[in-house]
Amino acid sequence: MIRLEGAAYAAPPSPAGGAARTLVGPLDLVVSSGSSHLLLGRNGSGKTALIRILAGLAAPSAGRFLLGDEEIRVGPEGRSLWPEVGALFEEPDPQFLSDTVEGEIAFGLESLGIPPREVRERTASALAEFGLAALGDRAPQSLSAGEKARTLLAAALVAAPRCLLLDQSLAHLDPGSRRELERRVVVEAMACGRAVIRTHQEAEPPFPGETLHVLEGGTFKPASQLTPRAVLEGAGVPFPLALRVSALLAIEGRWSGPLAADADQVERVMLGAGGVAPPGASVPDGRPAPVGPRGPAALTMRGVGWSAAGRRGAPLLSGLDLEICRGEIVALIGRSGSGKTTMLKLAAGLVDPTEGTVHLERPSVPRVRPVALALEYPERQLFGRTLLEDVAALLWVEGIPAEERARSARRAMADVGLDPDRFADRFPVSLSEGEKRRAALAGVIVEPPEILLLDEPTAGLDPEGRRALAQVMNRLRERGRTVLLASHDLGFVAAVASRVIVLTRGEGEAPSTVVQGATADVLRDDRLLTRAGIPEPDFVRLERALRPAGLLGPLVIRDEGSLLEAVARGAAAARPT
Ligand SMILES: Nc1ncnc2c1ncn2[C@@H]1O[C@H](COP(=O)(O)OP(=O)(O)OP(=O)(O)O)[C@@H](O)[C@H]1O
Ligand SMILES: [Mg+2]
Repeated sequence: MIRLEGAAYAAPPSPAGGAARTLVGPLDLVVSSGSSHLLLGRNGSGKTALIRILAGLAAPSAGRFLLGDEEIRVGPEGRSLWPEVGALFEEPDPQFLSDTVEGEIAFGLESLGIPPREVRERTASALAEFGLAALGDRAPQSLSAGEKARTLLAAALVAAPRCLLLDQSLAHLDPGSRRELERRVVVEAMACGRAVIRTHQEAEPPFPGETLHVLEGGTFKPASQLTPRAVLEGAGVPFPLALRVSALLAIEGRWSGPLAADADQVERVMLGAGGVAPPGASVPDGRPAPVGPRGPAALTMRGVGWSAAGRRGAPLLSGLDLEICRGEIVALIGRSGSGKTTMLKLAAGLVDPTEGTVHLERPSVPRVRPVALALEYPERQLFGRTLLEDVAALLWVEGIPAEERARSARRAMADVGLDPDRFADRFPVSLSEGEKRRAALAGVIVEPPEILLLDEPTAGLDPEGRRALAQVMNRLRERGRTVLLASHDLGFVAAVASRVIVLTRGEGEAPSTVVQGATADVLRDDRLLTRAGIPEPDFVRLERALRPAGLLGPLVIRDEGSLLEAVARGAAAARPT
């Protein structure tokens, strides 16, 4: 149904006279009806460029894109591919075209000249199907991340496209909701003959029957080349942890057959080989150390409550007591809508509590900003002509001389994994999503605040970007700075945070409740996680599966990195002789 024949994409020639440079391709791809394809690749590998070609939004610089038998042209002689092809990208707000949810879903049908009665009927059933019936009159921008995603999906699927393209479209949902929605889209597509092509940066496996493509160096890596060693070397690709673990085991001769796509599969194999400890079973090598002595408070919340409707409304948060100490990295976890972003805004002083007090200590170092908040989609704040200008903006405001500004900005870019020689002169808007996110972070850490608040900082970052971010946070901590982050990525939380605050949305009108604890305890408390609607982290499940088989050696598992290290050492030690 869809074919790419030697298709390539090139960046336009630069105004400074640089020649056009091929970024992706030449590529061949065949996508038939009823098939689903997951496209993985590091930030900047060309996934979005490819999706834009398939959506008819960008012309290939070489080769052909065919939809059915028709060669698709872009530009004056081209045509819109809607409704045959529906495409959704990452940030929801710029994709809304209407001022109500209902209008949003009806819009695509109206644009096709479908009679009003049919538009009404199809819109109503799409609203019901996606659980949006009660939200028809709401402004799309006012919805939660999950509701926004369902609205955009409903608006695309109501026209029954033959092909649906999802470029990171569900990246900002909590993992439980994201997986559920993805599964539904993929399963339905396979059942009704629609083609799906999707990308993500989460270390989650393809669904059964889905085809995996890895984009590397501008071309697809054939599945046959995904050897155990290639999986381990693909550190920039968001391979599932179970795949990496089984690749390590295979190299040590402890895994036979196809590599595992997910933790379920590892559990099944290990169960056959001698049993899996039940959830919550104690770890033989001792509980991880309790949180050590903590420094003086940097941020204190006492009896804090907040409601969208002021004092009279039903509170989202109530009676919250919290203390974050200087030099701590603390994570906030909880499902969409549990109040994580609100807590960050309260801490930043962007919203006032409707009850209680929020207190920030004065910075320990003169002239340092007390607090800075990087919201989701921080790249919205990029506005410079070059990336260097953008990253250095804070220093410019402070009147720091140009040379020193450039030096500091280049250092901050290198810290977040953006090569300053390649990126300093780039026009910020032309960056890939992950590159933009790194750039926005560089603009904050170029002059780090006393308390750094981050909302979903890993969304859209590839594994290397996440590692760079973890390093940046650790360096801030070493300098006595404090970080509070809201994150859905429990693997990342385990690697960086010493403490975790779990927000659990109350039933009905009840406010969210808060449970705090040492990271290692919270992430192993399956009952608490279940209550909060958060799936157990993969590294905990895999540890439980591998430990009884004697494959982990004596190492204490704290996070994904220590699990992989333990598997490498343990499997080697247990190697059959
Ligand atoms: N005008 C340009 N000049 C130079 N490079 C460009 C230009 N436009 C895009 N690029 C580069 O092309 C590469 C591919 O971008 P693309 O957005 O397709 O990546 P991606 O795989 O979607 O990444 P992400 O995971 O971050 O979304 C990026 O490295 C980007 O910086
Ligand atoms: Mg992209």
